[in-house]
Amino acid sequence: MRIAIDGPAASGKSTVARLVAEKLDFVYIDTGAMYRALALKAKKAGISFSNADEMAELMSHTYFSLSDSGIILDGSPLGDEIRTREVSLLSSDIAKYSYVRDFLTEQQRTLSKQGNVVMEGRDIGTVVIPEAELKIFLTASAGERARRRVKQLKSSGVEATYDEILAEIERRDLNDSTRSVAPLKAASDAIILDTTGMSIEEVVSRIVSLAEKRQRVHLA
Ligand code: DC
Repeated sequence: MRIAIDGPAASGKSTVARLVAEKLDFVYIDTGAMYRALALKAKKAGISFSNADEMAELMSHTYFSLSDSGIILDGSPLGDEIRTREVSLLSSDIAKYSYVRDFLTEQQRTLSKQGNVVMEGRDIGTVVIPEAELKIFLTASAGERARRRVKQLKSSGVEATYDEILAEIERRDLNDSTRSVAPLKAASDAIILDTTGMSIEEVVSRIVSLAEKRQRVHLA
């Protein structure tokens, strides 16, 4: 069974998807980490994302795989360096280019064939695995997402103001939902969960019970 979880920046997708995968003993696949890792790799190589030829060359020697601890890029696990605010914005920029999306979508489809997976991103239910048995679209107000992100950054020792983070989230929302290729939107058959005011545990148990119901339907 494949579960697709999509939603905007800082909607809690990663935490929720990881916990759902753990509870169901499914493989967790964070596709945002792949955009982040590719953006960082291109930046380190001094390649401009808009240079299709140089990007094609870079992608021709870029290999993603999965381990128990998450996504592996070119044989090495991804580190915290992909989680900085700078890389958040770079990943949203690189995600506009159709040659980047085509490459990563193909890689993600291959990874999704691992059996039981929870795959999380922006276009999983619409583009990557439209045939997923369960599709969830997580939302929360931009204000709530900014509050959560500031709290999360503070707990990892990063100082950030609410206004700054809100502006970054709004910029990424705009980028992600207005790009011409695979914009962020809920699949027509996705279950939309507005998590404003809900705890992580509530969201996780809601999705787990939806998954168990679907599994029973598929086994029946
Ligand atoms: O989920 P995240 O914040 O780690 O994702 C980083 C960026 O990658 C996000 O701003 C948009 C892009 N992305 C995408 O376009 N499609 C996906 N399936 C996942 C992420």
